[in-house]
Amino acid sequence: MSLDVSRVRKDFPILDRVINGKRLVYLDSAATSQKPRAVIDAMTHFQEHSYAPTHRSAYQLATESTEAYEMARHKVRRFVNGQADEEIVFTKNATEALNLVVRSWGGANLGPGDTVLLTHMEHHANIVPWQMLAAERGFSLRWVPLTADGQLDLTDLPTLLDGVKAFGFTAMSNVLGTITPVRHLTDAAHAAGAIAIVDACQFVPHVPTDVQAMGADFIAFSSHKMCGPSGIGALWGRQELLDAMPPFLGGGQMIADVRLDGFTAAPLPAKFEAGTPPITEAIGLGAAVDYLTGLGMADVRRHEMDVTGTAIGRLKDRYGDDIRIFGPTNPEIRGGAISFAFRDIHPHDVSQVLDQSNVCVRAGHHCAKPLMRVLGVGATARASFYVYNDVDDVDILVDSLDAASDIFSI
Ligand SMILES: Cc1ncc(COP(=O)(O)O)c(C=O)c1O
Repeated sequence: MSLDVSRVRKDFPILDRVINGKRLVYLDSAATSQKPRAVIDAMTHFQEHSYAPTHRSAYQLATESTEAYEMARHKVRRFVNGQADEEIVFTKNATEALNLVVRSWGGANLGPGDTVLLTHMEHHANIVPWQMLAAERGFSLRWVPLTADGQLDLTDLPTLLDGVKAFGFTAMSNVLGTITPVRHLTDAAHAAGAIAIVDACQFVPHVPTDVQAMGADFIAFSSHKMCGPSGIGALWGRQELLDAMPPFLGGGQMIADVRLDGFTAAPLPAKFEAGTPPITEAIGLGAAVDYLTGLGMADVRRHEMDVTGTAIGRLKDRYGDDIRIFGPTNPEIRGGAISFAFRDIHPHDVSQVLDQSNVCVRAGHHCAKPLMRVLGVGATARASFYVYNDVDDVDILVDSLDAASDIFSI
């Protein structure tokens, strides 16, 4: 294994929890990740020593707070290899980042007769905002279908992109684990005259991310899935596009001037950060970026490929046709979210039985109902792996599934 997981686990205080005599096996990081001590401490230290409003006051403490907040932006920008700190807009989460693009860019650029291309594997966060705006503006949505093994079916991509103004797609599916060919897709979008919006919510926490190499126009991600706190996410955008877009939310902080007859928006990134920002959360996100950088994102990716490959192999070896794994089985083209159907047992029952062994997996539609319909299921169970999971966790998952068969007498 490329990470020393026994050392990594010591960084996460919650993993010391023992419930009913059993250790915690946390396999729900695709929903939200656990937090290392470094993040918890950075946030506590900031609250105890430097907390004050940002950008607005002239006293020493406020300067410290502002500098810490802007340093977090700088760290996030470096983490995704953006070119300028102004390209990073802090939002509440990835959902808000995607809504920002849809409302601001889409609101200014889309109308009747226009088309936006999405894919069948999108999270609701990259579907519903488009549907809402499409209903208001009268543009239409088109969809990239999937192959039988849960990859994007790109056979008709040039036709699908014909006349499209924006192509929104995930870089890694939260259900199937599929990693999409981002550069190929952004190039195809641009060749068709469309902008490319990448939902990188599952990608940034797990794979080295280089927005310049991706060739995207926007990418969205959330802090809470990458060892940081909830309450903050980020939009990276091309500066010329962000500059040309109208503000998303109005209020304090996002203005250069306000008169009775109107307002002038502040320059980037303040234009898109209306109101008091998530200050402590930004400090936590900055610490999370430091933590992941310390582990090394290339090693994080390699580790997850190892664990995911082992998990898929062992689940298949033990249960054969009794387990159906959705999405590609080759770890080279997928991340660590493994959705599965187990015998005839409902995913919620699977999750409850695993909980008796203190194994936390998600059951449900994973905010991807259109994808559930494509897969022909109402829900799946999903085990997802991160930096603190190892092969022992895999074995406990595999063994604990036996209990589900016993309880449901299958
Ligand atoms: C692929 C994907 N996109 C978007 C989101 C939305 O993230 P958030 O709820 O943090 O806004 C998620 C969260 O599960 C996700 O997995």
